[in-house]
Amino acid sequence: MKPLFQVENLEVQLKGRKGLLVPLVRNVSFSVAPGECLGILGESGSGKSLTLKAAMGLLDSSFQVTGSVQFQGQELLTKSSEELRRLRGGKVGIILQNPMTCFDPLYRIGSQLAETFAAHGNWRKGEIRERSLTVLEKMRIHQPEEVLEKYPHQLSGGMLQRIMIGIAAALEPALLIADEPTTAIDAITQVEILAELLKIKEEKGTALVFVSHDLNAISRVADRLVVLSQGQVVDRGSFYQILHHAKDPYTRLLVGKRAEVMERYQRVLQGKGKEQGYA
Ligand SMILES: Nc1ncnc2c1ncn2[C@@H]1O[C@H](COP(=O)(O)OP(=O)(O)OP(=O)(O)O)[C@@H](O)[C@H]1O
Ligand SMILES: [Mg+2]
Repeated sequence: MKPLFQVENLEVQLKGRKGLLVPLVRNVSFSVAPGECLGILGESGSGKSLTLKAAMGLLDSSFQVTGSVQFQGQELLTKSSEELRRLRGGKVGIILQNPMTCFDPLYRIGSQLAETFAAHGNWRKGEIRERSLTVLEKMRIHQPEEVLEKYPHQLSGGMLQRIMIGIAAALEPALLIADEPTTAIDAITQVEILAELLKIKEEKGTALVFVSHDLNAISRVADRLVVLSQGQVVDRGSFYQILHHAKDPYTRLLVGKRAEVMERYQRVLQGKGKEQGYA
């Protein structure tokens, strides 16, 4: 299928003093088609967030961004900041790494959800409340009516993360970009939220870009992976390929320990643990 979102030779440089440019992201290329999930894997500081922010026009003028970013066949790097703002929260949903920064501390969760819905559709007040409650329920938030009355600081990071995923998904974007969306969420809820993301991808044909350093989370949702290290793509392929045939020594290090644990777990699940001496 034709890519919906295509990043080619993306370069991000930090403008230093005396015109000095410090390269932070180098020659990054990837694409994602409708109904597909691309996982971006990489250790902390490898350039995952910078890559996505650069692609979506979220970096300030202290960075220089070059290359090409196409969404639905249109070049984004030459669009005005106003056009990009309209795209984000419209056809492109973005779940940023730090949930706190996405909420206004001065307003209740309910009014922030209502404002987002009001900006995106012609719903009546009652419908907006219904939709807000549905978002919270889908994201496994207990007592959703009470949560609507709370201020952001009264909720945990994990709850805010879930609400953010819920809002982004409810707006039914064509492309959903999620930067470490489940880091503050406990393991059991994480599995449920990832299942919800998969459902959105399959039912609505949404294209997903899922960024994480958590191999376990990424293995549940991603159809293909790119691995970043020091601002460059060092490996790409299916989850299986990356797990078993990573070309790059850094990737092998990143997945090595995990591959061992996952294999052992699989064997125990299949009841082969004892005879293999794994139980
Ligand atoms: N505003 C900035 N000014 C200078 N350097 C920056 C800035 N933002 C990021 N960097 C540098 O760019 C590199 C990539 O950062 P980035 O935030 O993209 O990493 P990441 O892969 O998202 O890491 P994490 O998993 O911790 O979120 C890092 O070395 C970081 O120090
Ligand atoms: Mg990051």
